[in-house]
Amino acid sequence: MSISENLEKLFSLQGKVVLLTGSAGGIGSELARGLAGVGAELALADLAMPPLQALADELGGGGHAGYVLDISDLDSISQCVHDILFRHGRIDVLINCAGINKREGFLDVEEATYDRIMGVNLKGLYFLTQAVVRESMMKTGGKIINMASYNSTSMLGGVSVYGATKSAVAALTRSMAIEWAKFNIQANAIAPGHILTPLTAITWANEHRAGYLRERISAERPGLPAELVGITVLLASGASNYMTGALINVDGGAIAGGKPWQFDTKY
Ligand SMILES: NC(=O)c1ccc[n+]([C@@H]2O[C@H](COP(=O)([O-])OP(=O)(O)OC[C@H]3O[C@@H](n4cnc5c(N)ncnc54)[C@H](O)[C@@H]3O)[C@@H](O)[C@H]2O)c1
Repeated sequence: MSISENLEKLFSLQGKVVLLTGSAGGIGSELARGLAGVGAELALADLAMPPLQALADELGGGGHAGYVLDISDLDSISQCVHDILFRHGRIDVLINCAGINKREGFLDVEEATYDRIMGVNLKGLYFLTQAVVRESMMKTGGKIINMASYNSTSMLGGVSVYGATKSAVAALTRSMAIEWAKFNIQANAIAPGHILTPLTAITWANEHRAGYLRERISAERPGLPAELVGITVLLASGASNYMTGALINVDGGAIAGGKPWQFDTKY
């Protein structure tokens, strides 16, 4: 077998139905392009249809379709999962990528903001995953990929609620891994570092904050959404069949320690 045939056998998602939430977002839309490129059939889910339809059209043939989903609403979750199973028959891979943030000091956060962030990032992810496993994956096995964050393990000012949800996402990933191994489901979380998307554009446009972040990233630059495609394909494919419960940093060295202080070297 040639190298390319071996690689294709390891990483191909040909014929796999992938439910991707947050498909219209900066990271989600780039993951959709990457996954379609290795053969996945995408159920693209987000709050509104027009960007999903545009993305499905851009991806061309392959059975891709858009689905309106408000992940913070349990009825919307049931409807969306029902519609996807009616059209695609099963869900092989669930990528929980929808997420929101609002930067406010701990003492400034009001109940409505707290509930909104919790409702999307945590409760929504919890009950969508429950529905997908109950309705499909416990019969067929599958892969779950949760979008955690740098803030799952390290904090920045003004992201207390967001960080709490992302730490919880890492914890939920471990629960999914141990409870559903018997169904041949593997669940892993990706912890992106500072990725340049609509969610973070406001931060990178602020010179003080951008400089602060560059000091804390060994690569000294934000990541690009396309730089999350490789790990996602790995976790969605058979190449990761013995990986489960992991939290994987993709962050240009941020959690490792960021940019080192000045020290003398011979090189
Ligand atoms: N950008 C980063 O630096 C970064 C870093 C770490 C983790 N993340 C995580 O990656 C994921 C994607 O982030 P992004 O930067 O692409 O953000 P984004 O704002 O570009 O995309 C998020 C998407 O989620 C959708 N969404 C929001 N509320 C929803 C709801 N109630 N129901 C369904 N969909 C909803 C939005 O419409 C949007 O399309 C998020 O979970 C985020 O927390 C991002």
